[in-house]
Amino acid sequence: MNSAIDAAPTGELKTFLRRCQTHVDAEIDRRLRSPQGPDERLVKAMRYAVLGGGKRLRPTLVMLACEAVGGKTQAALPAAAAIELIHTYSLIHDDLPCMDNDDYRRGRLTVHKQFDEATAVLAGDALHALAFQILAEDAGARAVAEVAYYIGTEGILGGQMDDLLAEGQTDVGVNEVRNIHLRKTASLITASVRIGGLIGGGTEKDLEGLTTYGKEIGLALQIVDDILDEIGSTEQLGKPAGSDREQSKATYPAAVGLDESRRLAAELADRARLAIADIPQKRDLFCALADYIVTRDR
Ligand code: IPE
Ligand code: IPE
Ligand code: MG
Ligand code: MG
Ligand code: MG
Repeated sequence: MNSAIDAAPTGELKTFLRRCQTHVDAEIDRRLRSPQGPDERLVKAMRYAVLGGGKRLRPTLVMLACEAVGGKTQAALPAAAAIELIHTYSLIHDDLPCMDNDDYRRGRLTVHKQFDEATAVLAGDALHALAFQILAEDAGARAVAEVAYYIGTEGILGGQMDDLLAEGQTDVGVNEVRNIHLRKTASLITASVRIGGLIGGGTEKDLEGLTTYGKEIGLALQIVDDILDEIGSTEQLGKPAGSDREQSKATYPAAVGLDESRRLAAELADRARLAIADIPQKRDLFCALADYIVTRDR
């Protein structure tokens, strides 16, 4: 289950990722206890999805951004857990037959395969609802509004719609793919660093730097995800390799080729490093995380 993090570079980043994973998993476990009775199946499916691995990059970013602007990690923990719940909801729905139709995720059967489609839809919806309950109780109205913005029509959902509309088209240019990726993936990464910064009491200038960092590494993350889909193995990725090509998805490798995709991802990581130059602390960790996102193999 820890293989995604085990593959991270050694040193401070690995320790930080592990620490965040431990805290976030404990927080999710605490907030999502298995009930007995009629709700049992739904909560089981939610726990199966969210406590079944993953790199925990987004909650790590929430906590890192909070500490970087002078806040305490503990203060960001509920929001970090909420962001992971939202990410997991987006993955459950992304894997459904009506979307990407994938059977494996994080090294095991997707929720609709392990349970059934209706349960997968409901488990995703319920994770989404729980995330907003946590944010409203522990992160404040501005964080609620920001997360809602970044995952709605201007963010994940608009991006996912365009991703589906572009499927099967042969002439999707790189600008169009960029717009899809910025919304379907970079949005939640941006929201993660922004709410970490907000909870930590960062200035508007800190938030600006974090926003640019989030956008650049968020886009890089999706470009690398596209590259790995093309060159990785199912075993290594824990999800079906070659799924994008099979479904004629709009990806960077399809639009500009593998070499140019790699070059663009590295360029984005460079720009991300520049964007956080003025953030008071944790610069090395932000840089190491940007490196990890573009050099990872799973
Ligand atoms: C996968 O995200 C989906 C994308 C938006 C690229 P991650 O690569 O962060 O997936 P997990 O959370 O580690 O499973
Ligand atoms: C997923 O993009 C984006 C969201 C879940 C919002 P992909 O469809 O490329 O992600 P994977 O490859 O299935 O993880
Ligand atoms: Mg998809
Ligand atoms: Mg997918
Ligand atoms: Mg993918």
